[in-house]
Amino acid sequence: MAIERTFSIIKPDGVEKGVIGRVIARFESVGLKPVAIKLKRLSQAEAEGFYAVHKARPFFADLVKFMTSGPVVLMVLEGEGAIAKNREVMGATDPKKAAPGTLRADFATDIEKNTVHGSDAPETAKGEISYFFPEIDVHAYEWVGKR
Ligand code: RTP
Ligand code: MG
Repeated sequence: MAIERTFSIIKPDGVEKGVIGRVIARFESVGLKPVAIKLKRLSQAEAEGFYAVHKARPFFADLVKFMTSGPVVLMVLEGEGAIAKNREVMGATDPKKAAPGTLRADFATDIEKNTVHGSDAPETAKGEISYFFPEIDVHAYEWVGKR
């Protein structure tokens, strides 16, 4: 499997619950290495733009309100098959349906406050990484610590 980069967010509920370290440790334990990390509070415009694909959904306004309710951790993760691996470690959107041992089963509150976001395909990974990390080369698969 090829080395990939994917985009991850520890959502406001994860930061509030104090599980930043445990979420990142879980990623590292499956070979997903953070190559960029930022902690920030998203503006309304940033959250709306990021979730634009869900604009017509009934939960959109609530989702934007939640995503701007407190700081989030924005990350680029790198590793073998990183996009699928990240989704696997996250678990299903609804924590009640998430497999045991996944981040959402362990830490999420409900279908909205579900602790983590992860890109769902190579095109979305590329778009989401450049949305928040325009300085990152999405094609340069090299662990930054070794540069
Ligand atoms: P994400 O994009 O955050 O990684 O989550 P996902 O792919 O598993 O789920 P998606 O369908 O893309 O939904 C995006 C986020 O919107 C919130 N949501 N709320 N109230 C609801 O029914 C509902 N459905 C989705 C969740 O925060 C979900 O992660
Ligand atoms: Mg999604």
